[in-house]
Amino acid sequence: MAVIIDGKKIAEKVIDNIKKEVDLLERKPKLAVILVGNNPASEIYVRNKQKMALKLGFDSVVLTLPADISEENLLEQIYILNEDVNINAILVQLPLPAHLNKQRILEAIEPLKDVDGFTTHNFGRLSLGYFPCVVPCTPKGIVRLLDEYDISLEGKKVLVIGRSNIVGKPISLLMQNRNATVTMAHSKTKNLEELILSNDIIISAVGITNIVNQVSKGAVVIDVGINRTENGLKGDVNFELVSENASYITPVPGGVGPMTIAMLMENTLELFKIQEKLLF
Ligand code: GUN
Repeated sequence: MAVIIDGKKIAEKVIDNIKKEVDLLERKPKLAVILVGNNPASEIYVRNKQKMALKLGFDSVVLTLPADISEENLLEQIYILNEDVNINAILVQLPLPAHLNKQRILEAIEPLKDVDGFTTHNFGRLSLGYFPCVVPCTPKGIVRLLDEYDISLEGKKVLVIGRSNIVGKPISLLMQNRNATVTMAHSKTKNLEELILSNDIIISAVGITNIVNQVSKGAVVIDVGINRTENGLKGDVNFELVSENASYITPVPGGVGPMTIAMLMENTLELFKIQEKLLF
């Protein structure tokens, strides 16, 4: 039976360490979150981010903007936050309403305050292996979990299922930077079962329940899926079946999710330190 990777416990450890550091600071990091419209899942995520920021003693502001806001007005809000010296980190919660051009909105964020690492500046630096760069929160959290459990990546065959800008693409880059051999799959990939069975580490971030049903003996399985079903919150992985063969597996909830918030807080602190010239 697989070891269950305890994301909640590791996230608490990260948060404790951040808190100790923040307690010693004179000025506190300030995170600004922009929430457009009233997507119920986004509202929950933003509330949790705000709660955690306040628990850590960060300053935090949430701008809740109407679903029908014009692109120009939203851009104006981002420019104001870019210019505000008291704001260290800016996050625009995704998804955005369909009439807004996501690319134009995300690109408006000042790269030094881009806490998600979604601007081409930071994503380009990540792709090229240049540092410093802001690493997107969920992929950063996955690597941290693997490190905490001493799961080596060097030479490992890693299958990433899902090619999103938020998880799939950046995690594939992080894995390559760690000398893993990465295969990208997605919802249209043929012979997915075969690929799953022939890889050492499976990272599923595709948003389809039970897309991972069987893995090879000893495989490491990271489930990034958050699927709201009539039976509650489910990941992409058939946990009961897969944990029979896997060596390590993340649960949903309590696996990757708590790490995303912890990494957001870590990125906020990092940006603060760069801006305050405490970190170079
Ligand atoms: N929506 C789902 N995940 C994320 C994330 O990591 N950042 C932002 N901004 N929006 C999201």
